[in-house]
Amino acid sequence: MYKIIVLMGAPGAGKGTQARLLHEHLNLPQISTGDMFRALKEAHTPLAAEVRPLMEAGQLVPDDVTIRVVRERTSRADCKTGYILDGFPRTPAQAAMLEKLAAEQGKKIQAIEIEVPRELLAKRMVGRRNCPVCGEIYNIYFRPPKNDNVCDLHPDTQLNHRVDDKADTVQARLFTYEEQTRPLLNYYQGANLLQVVNGTREPEAIYKDIETIVTSDS
Ligand code: AP5
Repeated sequence: MYKIIVLMGAPGAGKGTQARLLHEHLNLPQISTGDMFRALKEAHTPLAAEVRPLMEAGQLVPDDVTIRVVRERTSRADCKTGYILDGFPRTPAQAAMLEKLAAEQGKKIQAIEIEVPRELLAKRMVGRRNCPVCGEIYNIYFRPPKNDNVCDLHPDTQLNHRVDDKADTVQARLFTYEEQTRPLLNYYQGANLLQVVNGTREPEAIYKDIETIVTSDS
């Protein structure tokens, strides 16, 4: 049965980093609601005006918007043989929608939590930089680019620092995660759908564990 791989974990745990590796190695589409909303909020539309202040305050985008975006994206042809969800679901309503979607699409949900202690998370986010061209994720403390603030793959491109990676917003995002999203881990554990990997190692070592889980028959 084809799989919906759900990468879970706190902000900064490394979901995006691992989703990119899964995409590169297994050629499954990476569906990041955060990336989709970051693109969407730049438009001059009423929806962008609704989403922008929420994201910049570290709060969640409303469920109805999020669910609509995920349903539309996962109905495309490239998702037919499975896909990776990075940052979804984050609320009980989103988890319920995903269960329905999996049944409709005839796919099995496999949730993987990347576990990282809270004291490491803020530094990961405050130090994060992204290439605006290819999306490569760097970190000034843990994974610096070869040359200061430019992408290794696009040497003419300055790296971005996400607006919501400022210290105050990072704390708000961690709070939102604890309140609204962490309880979903119990839900997936109770349903026997959750596996946990230690997210404090090198990204490649974490990836090996995730690939083993994803390529197993369970
Ligand atoms: P989103 O973009 O999903 O942000 P997030 O969940 O807060 O996750 P991050 O992107 O911060 O972290 P990550 O786990 O992907 O870590 P990364 O790999 O980059 O969401 C942003 C906003 O959009 C939300 O706040 C909300 O407003 C909205 N939104 C999104 N989805 C939504 C939904 N479903 N419902 C409602 N609203 C939604 O790594 C972090 C850093 O650590 C990087 O610098 C990286 O280089 C480094 N790093 C990664 N792995 C390692 C490692 N193993 N060792 C050392 N450093 C590492």
